Amino acid sequence: MESATEGQRIERKHNHDLTAKQLTWAGVKAGQRVLDLGCAVGTTTRQMAELVGPTGLVVGIDSSKPRLEEARRHPDHRSSIEYRCGQADAIPAGDAEFDLSWSRFLFEYLTDPRKAFSEMVRVTKPGGTVAVSDIDGNCIWHDPMPNEMARELEEAIQTLGHHGFDPNVGRKLYRYAWEAGLREIEVDVRPYHVVAGKVSPEAESLWRLKLETAARTLDGLGWEKGRAEHLVENFLSLLRDEGTFSYSVLISVKGKRL
Ligand SMILES: C[S@@+](CC[C@H](N)C(=O)[O-])C[C@H]1O[C@@H](n2cnc3c(N)ncnc32)[C@H](O)[C@@H]1O
Repeated sequence: MESATEGQRIERKHNHDLTAKQLTWAGVKAGQRVLDLGCAVGTTTRQMAELVGPTGLVVGIDSSKPRLEEARRHPDHRSSIEYRCGQADAIPAGDAEFDLSWSRFLFEYLTDPRKAFSEMVRVTKPGGTVAVSDIDGNCIWHDPMPNEMARELEEAIQTLGHHGFDPNVGRKLYRYAWEAGLREIEVDVRPYHVVAGKVSPEAESLWRLKLETAARTLDGLGWEKGRAEHLVENFLSLLRDEGTFSYSVLISVKGKRL
């Protein structure tokens, strides 16, 4: 789900404290060589570079050239960061290149998540860590949920699902990690989107960017003109409704490469 505003949205929604906790949990440390797969505009990559310090290296990989260009132009870009353009199912890196391989908010978009997981294992040293984090219940859990919206949302998710989008990928990460051969697997679950009552103006504007990108994708996949836009407006009015609760969770797994 591509759009010119996606880089800006990723930067604006970045939660520095949450990311710091997650990276510490994953085990990112000074002096390591680490991978940030699906690095987008490098927001998390730069935070990883602070943790690995001048003796370490962070390699950010993404399939979007414009996003990587934006990352390279960032004022906080530093020499301990290297960006490479490539696909998650054929990671442009050598075998056992990294002490730790990390990916967040990427697996929800992948048509072949198992292949991406096994690629992350391949590029990680034996004894090193692979850590992946993503959303469960992405955009779909609301109470109360009007019937018409439930039907439209289900169809939207199904259509996007044919092109890789999985709103419930979070719960599958443990299985993918196990099947990819990781062991000593640990799981962390925490609330992610939580809107109890009226959404804040900043959160609403971020939701609008995310939903409009999805709507353009649905238009491109043959949805009748105006239908996806109508769903976006219904979704946003649900978030503005003081009596509505919406949520999702963030599930992270980390495991050791044998
Ligand atoms: C939501 S952003 C990731 C945000 C970032 N990891 C973070 O934690 O803030 C998803 C990124 O995955 C990239 N992407 C999507 N499919 C990909 C693929 N098959 N291989 C590599 N990158 C991919 C997109 O270009 C986009 O920049």
